[in-house]
This record gives sequence, C-alpha cells and structure tokens, in this order.
Amino acid sequence: MGVKKIDLTFLPSPDEIALIAAVMWLDAIEAANRAGQAQHVALSGGRITQKLFAATVAQSRSRKLSFAGVHFFWADERCVPPEDSESNFRMARELLFAPLNIAPDRIHRIRGEDSPETAAQSAEADLRRVVSAPPAESPVLDLIFLGLGEDGHVASLFPSEPDERVSDQAVYRAVFNSPKPPPRRITLGYPAIAAARQVWMLASGAGKERALHESLQPDGQTPFARVLRLRAQTKILTDISLDRPMTA
Ligand code: 6PG
Repeated sequence: MGVKKIDLTFLPSPDEIALIAAVMWLDAIEAANRAGQAQHVALSGGRITQKLFAATVAQSRSRKLSFAGVHFFWADERCVPPEDSESNFRMARELLFAPLNIAPDRIHRIRGEDSPETAAQSAEADLRRVVSAPPAESPVLDLIFLGLGEDGHVASLFPSEPDERVSDQAVYRAVFNSPKPPPRRITLGYPAIAAARQVWMLASGAGKERALHESLQPDGQTPFARVLRLRAQTKILTDISLDRPMTA
C-alpha cells in the first residue's frame, strides 16, 4: 500500500463546510466543461448533504455555469419509493435538480421501490451504461460525496458488516439491516469508492469525534478508515474538533 494522502480541512460550521464544498464542486464542473468532459458524481444523503445542495444552488446563481455535462448517481439510497421523505433522490430533486433545472437523462436514480437485489443490479447496469469499465472492474466515478456517521459509516457501509462483505466486489449492493433507519438500502461497495478519482468527505455533526478520530488511525476499524486505506487521496472537510482527548 503506497502513501495515503489525507487532505484534512477544519472549518467552523456545517454552513462553512457546505459553502467551501459547493465552491470547489462548481470549480470542478467548470474545469470539466472547459475540458469538454462529463462529470460523473455520486451523492450521499444526510443533513450535511442538504446544506451542500443549498450552497451549490446559491453559489451557482453568480456563475454562468452549465450543468449539462454532469451525470448524477448516488453513493447510497434508501429502499423506499422516490416520493418517500427518506428518499435521497427526493431530497436531491427538491434541493438540487429542480432549482438547477437538471435534465432527467442526467439523473440516474436508484430504484428504491424495487427489491434491494434488483435495485442494486439495475443501479450498476445504469452506471456502467454511462461510465464504461471492463466487466471485472468498477466504473471510475469522477467524484463521490460522503458523509460520516456517528459509527464511522460512509454511504450505507456500516461497521457491523462481516469481513467477507467488506471484500464484496459488487459495484452496488443491498443492505438489509442498516443501524441507521431505514433498514434496507443500496450502497456503493468499497471497490467503487476506492476507484473514484476524487472522494470528498463532508464530516459534520455532534457525536462524531470518536468516529473521525478512529477513522484517521492507520489501523482504524470503521468503514471510513477502510476507505482511507483503499485510496491514494481523500479530501476531508470537517467541523469536528479532534482537540478534546478521547474519553474511554
Ligand atoms: C444516508 C447517507 C449517510 C450519511 C451519514 C451522515 O443515506 O444516510 O448517505 O451515509 O451521509 O449518515 O449523515 P449526516 O450528515 O446527517 O450526519
């Protein structure tokens, strides 16, 4: 395993995290547009993602920026219908796609209303239609946004998984016992997250000091620690203070 570069930025608040991430994202989209390249991005759910969306819409107002080259995928989705309040798609549609007038053919929704196995298979097929890759390899996304759970989870990869699940090579897979409700989800597996050109972790919220601290340890056992070990570089924007000593 080569040297792992962790680009860690501490910010004072979730709003600052969302603002900085939004500006960096819009810069990346502009660069892709100038290069005549698409941007294949996977979104997470959660509270910090809501703020990211709002900041992205607000910051885009002052730019003449086309989103036509951006293809939207998900890092994870809950196994609920698209109109459900728990749907990550619904949150993105309301807070990002509608305000930015994103074309439907750029939105690659994971079909949470289907059986988890079917949804995982069709999500992988959809991703492979847009981002080609040899059958035995993960498609390479340009950017994946992740949030950090209080237990160190990312997407819907949780600490409670048995080791053989960690080595599961599936691009997308079904989760049936998520400790974070709702229990059934679809998630990118570790290989697809490892393969992405960029992964930006927006780690925000109370009660996550231990999760972040543990994840930054070379032998950390959290899902995020596993992601960090699998990748050459990962960007972290966080308002979580690591100054306080970890209580036992
Ligand atoms: C989900 C998310 C999940 C989230 C983290 C952080 O669908 O639930 O993808 O992985 O990113 O749980 O969520 P908060 O930002 O709300 O703490």
